[in-house]
Amino acid sequence: MKIKTAEFIISAVRKKDYPKDGLPEVVLIGRSNVGKSSLINTLVNRKGLAKTSSSPGKTRTINFYRINGEFFFVDLPGFGYAKVPQSVRLSWEKMIEEYLEGRAEVRCAVIVLDARRTPGDAETRLYRWLEGSGVPVITVITKTDKLSGNKLTKSLRDIKKALGIKDPVAFSAVKGHGKHILLKRLGEALGAG
Ligand code: GTP
Ligand code: MG
Repeated sequence: MKIKTAEFIISAVRKKDYPKDGLPEVVLIGRSNVGKSSLINTLVNRKGLAKTSSSPGKTRTINFYRINGEFFFVDLPGFGYAKVPQSVRLSWEKMIEEYLEGRAEVRCAVIVLDARRTPGDAETRLYRWLEGSGVPVITVITKTDKLSGNKLTKSLRDIKKALGIKDPVAFSAVKGHGKHILLKRLGEALGAG
């Protein structure tokens, strides 16, 4: 798949704010600060399209980016960021759940994991739940540029084992590694090739 255009459309909190044009959606899910927004920017070749930050909790709403006028990338707030007040955390979780449970437009869920961190309970449960929901899931292991050689190999192996998966996409938003394979997989999930 080739990305020709990318436009920010809307920042939504509640369902009533989501786009209503019925285009298919690819949703990015993962912990705070794992690199979801950076991944979108790398795929679309636009550094500042999705806002990123070195401190967790940058994306606080559900952001819809229309790609090629054909589908949306949906950038969710991250989960598991302990340093925000519990009330804020709960409202983010509610926002994420409301989207994931009721959105018929979702054609593909991209779970984003950090190459330096073995998935814990939260990710494993999320992965199983998404699998059970029948939506194609692509697992992306990002920040691979932060590890090298044996360490990266071992980490990829541990993550695959923890989730029981075979074919994650190893990715780096900084180096662009994994970009082509991920675009290909997204194209397949969207039926575009
Ligand atoms: P929230 O919106 O807070 O949930 O975070 P996010 O998952 O959208 O992460 P974001 O894209 O904002 O990136 C977090 C930090 O990680 C930023 O400082 C990025 O520059 C950095 N980062 C993201 N991807 C990569 C990568 O592949 N390699 C390296 N070295 N840094 C990365
Ligand atoms: Mg973000």
